[in-house]
Amino acid sequence: MSRVYQPSDHVVENSRVPSFEKYKEMHEKSLEDPETFWSDIVKEFYWQKRPQTGNFLRYNFDISKGSIFVKCMEGAETNISFNLLDRNVRNGNGDKIAYYWEGNHPDDYSRVTYKKLMDRVCQFANALRESGVGKGDRIAVYMPMILETVVCMLACARIGAIHSVVFAGFSSDSLAERIAACKAKMVVTADGAWRGEKLLILKNICSEAIEKSKRQHNHLVSMCIVVSHLDRVTPCGELPDDYNDMFHWNPIRDVWWHDLVEGQSTICSPEWMDAEDPLFMLYTSGSTGKPKGVLHTTAGYLLYATATFRYVFDYRGNDVFWCTADVGWITGHTYVVYGPLANGATSVIFEGTPFYPENDRYWSLVDKYNVNQFYTAPTAIRSLTKCGDHYVKMNDLKSLRVLGSVGEPINPEAWLWYYHLIGSGRCSIVDTFWQTETGGHVLTSLPGATPMKPGAAGFPFFGVEPRILNEDGEVIEGPGEGYLVFSRPWPGIMRTLYGDHERFETVYFSKFPGYYCTGDGAKRDEDGFLWVTGRIDDMLNVSGHLMSTAEVEGVLAKDPRVTEAAVVSKPHPIKGESLYCFIILNEGAKFDDELIDCLKKLVRKSIGAFATPDVIQYAPGLPKTRSGKIMRRILRKVALGDEAVGDLSTLADPTVIPELFKYRP
Ligand code: WTA
Repeated sequence: MSRVYQPSDHVVENSRVPSFEKYKEMHEKSLEDPETFWSDIVKEFYWQKRPQTGNFLRYNFDISKGSIFVKCMEGAETNISFNLLDRNVRNGNGDKIAYYWEGNHPDDYSRVTYKKLMDRVCQFANALRESGVGKGDRIAVYMPMILETVVCMLACARIGAIHSVVFAGFSSDSLAERIAACKAKMVVTADGAWRGEKLLILKNICSEAIEKSKRQHNHLVSMCIVVSHLDRVTPCGELPDDYNDMFHWNPIRDVWWHDLVEGQSTICSPEWMDAEDPLFMLYTSGSTGKPKGVLHTTAGYLLYATATFRYVFDYRGNDVFWCTADVGWITGHTYVVYGPLANGATSVIFEGTPFYPENDRYWSLVDKYNVNQFYTAPTAIRSLTKCGDHYVKMNDLKSLRVLGSVGEPINPEAWLWYYHLIGSGRCSIVDTFWQTETGGHVLTSLPGATPMKPGAAGFPFFGVEPRILNEDGEVIEGPGEGYLVFSRPWPGIMRTLYGDHERFETVYFSKFPGYYCTGDGAKRDEDGFLWVTGRIDDMLNVSGHLMSTAEVEGVLAKDPRVTEAAVVSKPHPIKGESLYCFIILNEGAKFDDELIDCLKKLVRKSIGAFATPDVIQYAPGLPKTRSGKIMRRILRKVALGDEAVGDLSTLADPTVIPELFKYRP
């Protein structure tokens, strides 16, 4: 049994949802009568054409009854950029700070108010319009974490263009594929950016990608807008060889951002968008290898980003919020850009890394900006635990009230470190489960309302109705483990995969008709807490026992010698599947038979004899995507001794692969 942690008094006090009873009451209401439930927030927005009553959410979730669709307030008209900027300025918040920008180097920082941000968005939107961009055009964005990135996204939203942000850590091949797949008219980038002591020449990667999109995908980009960023920041290391390559400048296609916006008016009439017009698309990896262009639309996404940000982080008044995610991922879209601005919030946007110039950079920024809500990923937390507690203790973290986690199940050790050391035992942790596809949090705790268990995502957000299904698609009531699905839509769920509605229906709706299938496993414990156990493709069935790799990994990581563990399944003639474990050791620890034996016993003891690993292998590193997810597909190949590992383009560091094969027992 896990210990239950209650929200502390100072979190509950003045909280928007101050008790579990209140949460349950609100959740019930959100399912019984969605239209009334959401109407308070709907009323806060500016509508050019008001939503009609009785038309809040129409949908078909059952593929056996026809095509899948979700429509939220269709027919109403609004503009998101207008709601995020003009509305806040009109409400008297023009002088409020929208963002504190902090550069890679601590000497580089700035801030922008709502009024100034609005002016900059309007100027860039006018520049885009003048360059021939209009409603429905796709704009690819390949940018570092700078204010122009936000300006660009909101300028697109202002004129009805659809942004497709590609994380600026992707290679030129991946960028080319994404530019071509959405048929982007234009690409917006920056000359480059420092990441710690390393300089990335983004413009060169971008130029290569534009060339490749023409040569390999037959798609022509007519314009590339480039922010001149490097000249205004402090150099942090050596200049790379290609620095003086004039950024592969093509005078016909390429134009500097500052030249384009010069002289543009700060007034720009918004394009009034139907509630169901597309807002943005964002590519996410698919199990087939071909990226999926997840499409989100206007009003439902706005509503859901607003509500989740407000309730899950319990944002109030003059709080300072900080989400460390890159804008290139959905977390950056919803909780760096849309959610905070829709609430008139002040946030931190950070260009650098947690380890530069020192391992306390995150904590020093919490201290510097008096951050109240801090939102990051378990992989970051785990690597920071390794740096040593003194980096934390050097800084004053008393401003913190809510700590967030996202991206993967958080192991209890990391959770406890986060809770005790970062939060001093007085902050609530929100473990937010969601996906690019869900638009915003779907399972989470609420800071002032829900008790917490380390590693449990908690409970459904308002409007969300989760179910756990067994292999036969039957609903598991009460405690149990199986497939995590949702039985009805909420306003922020994706509407389709760009240009491929059939794939959308197949991937998410065909396995269990009537349900949106997350692809994740979950279990419900005796107290009704939901625990996300990892991707279904990471589920193991050993001798008829369903278990998750995350569960076994959590056990292995409990041994003080283990830094990180990754578990995959290996086919087994009798048991069906068996566990094959990769182990990264802490400095000074020895990999020997004694350790192997000890780890096997630990799993046996913690889960059961059926879960005893067959193989424990030493690993010098793990194959991870740039966003920190372990690529289990590759580990399964290593486990099999099959060197045909397939596509490695999303891998952060491919050099670990030969190493892993070398250490096979
Ligand atoms: C995983 C990121 C457990 C899950 C917002 C999901 C999580 C995938 C959690 C989506 C969490 C995300 N607990 N697992 N709190 N958050 N995941 O699209 O497997 O990059 O399906 O969206 O991350 O990843 P994506």
